[in-house]
Formats: sequence, structure tokens, C-alpha cells
Amino acid sequence: MKRKIIAGNWKMYKTMTDGLAFLDAFVPRCHREMMEKCSLILAPNFTLLASMAARCREAGIALAAQNCHPGGEGAYTGETSLAMLVDVGVSHVLVGHSERRALFGEQDNFLNQKVKAVLAAGLVPILCVGETLAQREADAAGTVVEKQLRQGLDEVVPDGRLMIAYEPVWAIGTGKTATVDDARSMHQFIRQCLRSLAVDGKGEDVPILYGGSVKPANAPGLLAEDEINGVLVGGASLNPEDFARIAESV
Ligand code: 13P
Repeated sequence: MKRKIIAGNWKMYKTMTDGLAFLDAFVPRCHREMMEKCSLILAPNFTLLASMAARCREAGIALAAQNCHPGGEGAYTGETSLAMLVDVGVSHVLVGHSERRALFGEQDNFLNQKVKAVLAAGLVPILCVGETLAQREADAAGTVVEKQLRQGLDEVVPDGRLMIAYEPVWAIGTGKTATVDDARSMHQFIRQCLRSLAVDGKGEDVPILYGGSVKPANAPGLLAEDEINGVLVGGASLNPEDFARIAESV
């Protein structure tokens, strides 16, 4: 069995003190069987990365950044380069989270530059895609997700160096999870798109995560699906017990 990926996106929550307290509570719960079945990833805020890096490394938890700038160093006030993220011990980078798209105007072509830059830096991009409620109701979910994938992965051959997170916008922070059937069928669709963009069957190697109100109660059903290679958890990842219960449900 392939390990399931259990990723936590802390968004703009937790101070450095809170982050270290989370590790104090969470790391002792990472028992051997859990670590054999799951790959754990945490994406705290930039200000927490340096202080969490050594303890995450010792515990076998990968550290992700929530964003990056695609360029090298330069006059980009407020931005963070990939060299800085590598230096601090980050291995994964979230790209194109729906909050970045909706609140900060990030467009597919800019996200494509980020995906390429993350790969060039030797890190793993986690490209987030997903439709809004209006798009789903207009029966456009597939078209929207396919466009996000094609443009976000322009000139990128998808393979095991990257991950996709399917996060339907209407399920994020709302308590509404996609049904297992909805999630499975969109994951199958994403897999087909990846196959068509990949060469030599490498599209099979791209893990596809589900995100959107994942909780200890619904995680077992989602993670039991072969098509769902892991989860990207927001709110429930802030609580060490809930995040551990989600990982334990694998
Ligand atoms: P919630 O789990 O809080 O719905 O957030 C999902 C998410 O946006 C993870 O990136």
C-alpha cells in the first residue's frame, strides 16, 4: 500500500509559540505504525518555519511553505524566494490555494511560473485546484479544474515530483465536505487530465489530495478511496489531537 499524505495548512493561524506547543502535543502521537502508513506535511506561516524545521525533521514531518515568489532574489517587498525556503528546510510549497487565487488575485499563468520555480529549486509544488459553488451549480466544475491544471502545469510534465490538491472552494472552511462519490469522481477526472499531460504513464505517480472541511469524522471515508492519495486539512490541522486522529484513520 502506498502511504497516504496527510498535510496540514495552518493558513494565517498560530504564533511561533503556538506552533512549538503544537509539536509538543503532536509529535508524541506520531507512533511507528502511523508513520509507516502516512507521510505527514505541515504548512505553517513563514514566521514559524525556521523554529519548527529541526523538530519536524527529527520527527519525520515534512515542512511546507504556504506560498513563494517564483523569482530569484530582488526588490520584491514582502515576498519570499525559494532559496530562502530551501535554506530554512522547507521541502514542499503550496501553490495557488483558492485563498491566494480569490483574495490576492493570483492567476494561472503566475501560478505556472511558481510551479516551475518550485520544481527548479528541487522542492515539491502542491498545486491547488477547485471550483466555486456557482461553477459547480453551472455544471462547470470539470472545465474549471481542467483549465487550472492545464495552465498551472503548462510546460511541466506531471510526475511524482509534484502533487495536486483538489479543494472545492465551497467546501473550504464551511463544514461542507464533498461527498466521497463527488471527491472520487473529480479525482478520477484529475487523474485523466494528468495522464493526458504526462508521458510514459508518469501521470499515475502524481499524488492527488482532497481538501475542504476534512475532519476526524469524515477522514476515514475519504482516505479509504484508492483515488484519494491524501488530504489537505485546514481547520482540523490546528488541533494536534484532531490532526493525529485524521492520520490515524489511514
Ligand atoms: P478547511 O479544512 O478548514 O476547510 O480548509 C481546507 C483548506 O483550505 C486546506 O488548504
